[in-house]
Amino acid sequence: MTDSTSTVRGISDTARWVAYFRALETRRADALFRDPYAERLAGALGFNIANTLPDGNKHEWAWVARTYLFDQFLSRAIQEGADLVVNLAAGLDARPYRMNLPAALQWVEVDLPVIVSYKEEILGNEKPRCRLERIALDLSDVSGRRALFAELDARARKVVVASEGLLIYFTADEVASLAKNLAAGKHFQNWIIDLASPGQLRLMQRTTGKQLSEAGAAFKFGPPEGAKFFTPHGWEPKDVQGLLKTAAQFKRAPSVLLSLLPEPKGNFGNYPWTGVCLLDKR
Ligand SMILES: C[S@@+](CC[C@H](N)C(=O)[O-])C[C@H]1O[C@@H](n2cnc3c(N)ncnc32)[C@H](O)[C@@H]1O
Repeated sequence: MTDSTSTVRGISDTARWVAYFRALETRRADALFRDPYAERLAGALGFNIANTLPDGNKHEWAWVARTYLFDQFLSRAIQEGADLVVNLAAGLDARPYRMNLPAALQWVEVDLPVIVSYKEEILGNEKPRCRLERIALDLSDVSGRRALFAELDARARKVVVASEGLLIYFTADEVASLAKNLAAGKHFQNWIIDLASPGQLRLMQRTTGKQLSEAGAAFKFGPPEGAKFFTPHGWEPKDVQGLLKTAAQFKRAPSVLLSLLPEPKGNFGNYPWTGVCLLDKR
């Protein structure tokens, strides 16, 4: 990969975009988390992408709240005994290097080959805090992912899966199929996901989504059922936290959006909601 362009060349470049927000957060005196690798991982390309995509450098509060919530849910699952973290579409996430983790914890990152090899170039000489492994796999390869999940299931007692920033690029049928494959793992107990409401999905499709769609990274998933979408596919929502509400708790939400709070109860419909959900295996 070279940094000679400023546009998204494919879906893996969205990982650079997310790393840009972690780099900005890390520079703040009041950072909610610090990722000392984010700036290097984002590279000039990540900064260029964020600053040229329509609305690409906006809504910093939402990206930060998302990372914060994934950190919280992951820490809790590990404290409650998870011995294997499976990070699907890990992108340029550096949690195994920056979080306080038990050295014996197994952590498996899965992403497309192009991002796995780029990450290895940047982080190859750094020391993770747990037992980290990176696997290059296209998660839309159903037989490939079923084989991987079965192998992972056999080597852990309690698995927590995270997929941050992945499901929005899948259709509802693809998400349902992935959910079923994950639920088949006997030891797969929790799954942490981020989710958009149908109203939020439409907003994103009209702004950043247009250019991303041309790069083969269209936004597709924002189910009307919300987190209950997962119930028929083997997963029950246990804890659902909105990004705006979370950002407001830390005084990070823009004042123009505060009138949207409190969040509606139940169905979000046109309400522009995004959040992070902890799902329990049924
Ligand atoms: C928005 S990034 C999120 C990365 C990371 N989870 C984070 O939050 O920083 C989306 C990631 O999904 C990965 N991805 C998209 N489709 C994929 C697929 N079919 N198989 C594996 N990874 C995929 C991309 O390569 C990219 O790293």
